Amino acid sequence: MRAVCPGSFDPITRGHLDIISRAAEVFSEVVVAVGHNTTKNYLFDFGERVELARDAIANLENVRVEPIRGLLVDFCRQHDARVIVKGVRFGSDFDYELQMSQLNRQLSGIETVLLPAGREYGTISSSMLREVAHNGADISAFVTAKVNAAVLAKIAEN
Ligand code: PNS
Repeated sequence: MRAVCPGSFDPITRGHLDIISRAAEVFSEVVVAVGHNTTKNYLFDFGERVELARDAIANLENVRVEPIRGLLVDFCRQHDARVIVKGVRFGSDFDYELQMSQLNRQLSGIETVLLPAGREYGTISSSMLREVAHNGADISAFVTAKVNAAVLAKIAEN
C-alpha cells in the first residue's frame, strides 16, 4: 500500500527522516509530499525544500519526493494513495493532526496514520533548528550534511 508523508520540510530534519524511514518499512511505497502552509513564513523556497528532501531520502529505495500543488487530498488521489502518515511529538501535535486528519477524511475519505516520534529526535522542529542556527548554534547533529550547508549558506545570504 502506498502512503503519503506530507509536510513543509523547511528544511527536512532527522526527525522527519525517522518518520519517513519507519513509514517505508510499514508501507510498500512512500511519497514524501512537500507542501505549502499559507500561515508559515519559509526560509527555503518551494523548489529548495523539494531538492533538499530529495537529497535526504536518496538512500531509501521505496521513497520519492513530489511537490503538492493544491490540496493534499487531491495529491493523494492523483498518486493513488489512501493513507497519509504523520509524526506526532507531543500533545499539541496531536491536536493539530487530529483536526487536519478529520478535515482530510471528510473531504476525501483518506485515512491518516499517526506515528509517535522516535526518542532520539523526538521533539526537534525545523522552526527551532532555524532559530538556533540563526543565532550561531551547530545543528549538524539534527540534519543531513547537505541541509546543514544549505542552512549556513541561507543564513550568510540573509
Ligand atoms: O509542516 P506542516 O504545517 O505540517 O505541513 C502542512 C502541509 C503542507 C502538509 C499542509 O499545509 C498541506 O497539506 N497543505 C496543502 C493544502 C491543504 O491540503 N491544506 C489543508 C490541510 S487540512
